Amino acid sequence: MDVQNILVTGGAGYIGSHVLVALIASGYNPLVIDNFTNSSKKSIQNCQKITGKLIEVVEGDVGDVEILENLFTQKNISAVIHLAALKSVNESCVEPLKYFKNNVANTLTLVEAMKRNGVHNLIFSSSAAVYGNASVIPLTENCHTKPTNPYGASKLMCEEILKSLVTTCDGQGSDPWKIVNLRYFNPVGAHESGTIGENPRGAPANLVPYICEVANGHQERLKVYGDDYNTPDGTGLRDYIHIMDLAKGHVSALNWILKLEKNEKCCEVINLGVGRGISVFEMVKRFEAITGINIPLKVTERRPGDVAESYSSAGKAYSLLGWKTEYSLDQMLGSAWLWRSNYPRGYE
Ligand code: UD1
Repeated sequence: MDVQNILVTGGAGYIGSHVLVALIASGYNPLVIDNFTNSSKKSIQNCQKITGKLIEVVEGDVGDVEILENLFTQKNISAVIHLAALKSVNESCVEPLKYFKNNVANTLTLVEAMKRNGVHNLIFSSSAAVYGNASVIPLTENCHTKPTNPYGASKLMCEEILKSLVTTCDGQGSDPWKIVNLRYFNPVGAHESGTIGENPRGAPANLVPYICEVANGHQERLKVYGDDYNTPDGTGLRDYIHIMDLAKGHVSALNWILKLEKNEKCCEVINLGVGRGISVFEMVKRFEAITGINIPLKVTERRPGDVAESYSSAGKAYSLLGWKTEYSLDQMLGSAWLWRSNYPRGYE
């Protein structure tokens, strides 16, 4: 069978670059569309070095109808992995319209182009942020969704749009939509080469990139946002997942939809997490143990909007896709540090 072309929107980003590596390792041919607002061309170059394959990239926006039309008419695209989006919770609270435009309106433009061109296979990048304050732990896909910020709301809106598309059979004919919404927990770490990774602009907001910034001396100390939560050590519990496990989850979802019967429709929501909550103090201790670097810290007020605990039930991803995580916490932290040591200031 011919190698299948998979369009990866946002393929140069943190998640995208690792998805490219996982797709190529599984025999797919990824094509990238990326506007490089929050990513670098260097990540594509490094993906090419890792995989030994040339990766075709179109520089442009997913909201650009003409670019999408050219891609879908000129390339024989089997499926789309839609990752291109804005992802800062804080920024989304300050500029919500920017988030709805980029994340929701652009998703609409993309699925309209897919529909016009008869491409009905889609893996969508959603987030555990759609759950908001968890009423039940661990979080299953059936748990109540109530995002607490515009970022999470934008992801949930996309999920709703995609669900309607499948259930109403809009424009499918005999070739129905097959869609998987992947709800990510907390992706951390980097490819084992340490040449692609998370490349935040400015001071990072997330825990592991921040710990690395303290380790390399760019930040003085880690602020621990509260040690008075109702958790074993008082700090927040999160479900940290190695970025390569997360990337492979996309390939498992893709394999699954591409094997469904041609006339079968589906819209599944699947959590991608390890299924275990780890505290801030535990993360710091493990980082110190494996790197030998002391991380000074200071406990401060809780960060507004933070929840005490958020971790997934990984059962559905395993039962439906046969996917489970393989990497340890030490591999997550070790690879994050390797990447940061190789690129102390990111790519540029
Ligand atoms: C955040 C986003 C979430 C996004 C995820 C991606 C918020 C409210 N949520 O989740 O939507 O999907 O990142 O990875 O921003 N912490 C500190 N000090 C720090 C940074 C974090 O103590 O400098 C703590 C937090 O309070 C939390 C844990 O570390 O308990 C993890 O924080 P973070 O990495 O920002 O992830 P989330 O808040 O879970």
